[in-house]
Amino acid sequence: MNELNGSGVQREEWSSRFAFVMAAVGSAIGLGNVWRFPWLVAQNGGAAFVFVYLALLVFIGYPILLAELTIGRAARRAPHVALGTVSGKPFWNIVGWLGIFAGGIFVLSYYNVVGGWTIKYMILSLTGLIEEANAGNAGSIFGTFVGAKHEQVGFMVLFMAVVMFYIARGVKSLEWANKWMMGTLFVLVLVLVARSLTLDNREGVMAGINYYLNPDFTKVTFRTCLSALGQVFFSLSLGLGAMLIYGSYVKKEENIPAAAGWTAGLDTGVSLLAGLIIFPAVFALMGAGAGEAATKAGPGLTFIVLPEVFAKMPFANSLFSFLFFLLLFCGAATSAMSLMEVAAGFAAEKFGLKRAHAVYLMGTIIILLGGYSAISLSGDPKVFAPWAGKLVDFFDFMDELCNNVVMPLGSMLLCLFVGWVWCDPALKEITNDGKLSASQFALTIWIWVLRIFAPVAIAIIGLTGLGVIKIG
Ligand code: TRP
Repeated sequence: MNELNGSGVQREEWSSRFAFVMAAVGSAIGLGNVWRFPWLVAQNGGAAFVFVYLALLVFIGYPILLAELTIGRAARRAPHVALGTVSGKPFWNIVGWLGIFAGGIFVLSYYNVVGGWTIKYMILSLTGLIEEANAGNAGSIFGTFVGAKHEQVGFMVLFMAVVMFYIARGVKSLEWANKWMMGTLFVLVLVLVARSLTLDNREGVMAGINYYLNPDFTKVTFRTCLSALGQVFFSLSLGLGAMLIYGSYVKKEENIPAAAGWTAGLDTGVSLLAGLIIFPAVFALMGAGAGEAATKAGPGLTFIVLPEVFAKMPFANSLFSFLFFLLLFCGAATSAMSLMEVAAGFAAEKFGLKRAHAVYLMGTIIILLGGYSAISLSGDPKVFAPWAGKLVDFFDFMDELCNNVVMPLGSMLLCLFVGWVWCDPALKEITNDGKLSASQFALTIWIWVLRIFAPVAIAIIGLTGLGVIKIG
């Protein structure tokens, strides 16, 4: 049965478990999996990072994902009022507000810039990228593109137009976009893994796999753990209200722990497979030594090194390059939809707007800010970042502000809220009033992770990110 939400409007709901999981997975799988995860792996010594990531995912990421979805479903409201609604303590609404500004507006305003790059690279793949990469120009193409203000803004707006188009038409349209884009993404991931693993240079392929999956635990440092935890938050879309608002459309009889398990599992699966696309191909086609060096390229791994790798593929290389960037686009678009939904859901409830109008209003604000970060890539304007003690690009400023400050803070407050303030109702909600059989042991662990373990871990990360704690 549908319930009315606080503003007296009947709340839309996902039409099935599958639709809900695809939407949550759509939010989770994105640039974080295909672009960020592999370069973090490369920079943090390969497989050891992967193992640390998996451990943190299970012990911290999954419990927080459960918390966010549970609050969302209990509240059936947008993030700015959700915590206050369920607990009667409006102070906690601050978590939702943080999420709206940081996620819906700030993260999206640079995420959409990279989203625009994926469109540009799909087009480029079919129009000469491969030839240029063959001639050694992949780096300069990327550099020129990033510095071209009009193009940056144009592709960003195009990307946002796609996102807004699907969101403006409601939850059913959002479902449709997520099902199709995620379906496409899963197929493409498998096709590309198969291509990468069947390359002729067997030794190179094995060297890539070895680098990626054979852990050297002596390389695990405190910093490895920090980047891994940050990646867990980013990849599971935690702490900014995205899972909270998706949770608010979940049916009362849905099994949240199971759906969240699917979400976390598929998200992790795609990250791991993205590595299996990239590392074997880079090592096989560039030679082991060069491969190891190339994987250190950081954020440029995807947009500079991969075109060079595709250029060396024996056949249909433009096609594989196109498919790869299509995959990246599908992931980015569905993630951006969840961030936009936070902003739009807020505006709709707060100002009593129709969904479509809320989307246009917030979309315009996001595009204006996005324009700012798009042009900042060519050098100006710069903003002072107190944590780094220097002027940085607006783009980096937004990225670091959100990753270092707001996401950890939002997640930590969510943990403390469920652990200490809203514990009994949370247990009722997550077990569907006791109808779902859940072991008492698992529930107790969940609550204590939220009470102590996760907040302490996050506090350490947050303070290190801000430079308050210095590590080697
Ligand atoms: N999870 C997405 C990715 O991996 C990014 C993302 C979408 C996100 N929604 C979010 C990150 C909310 C933090 C919060 O690319």
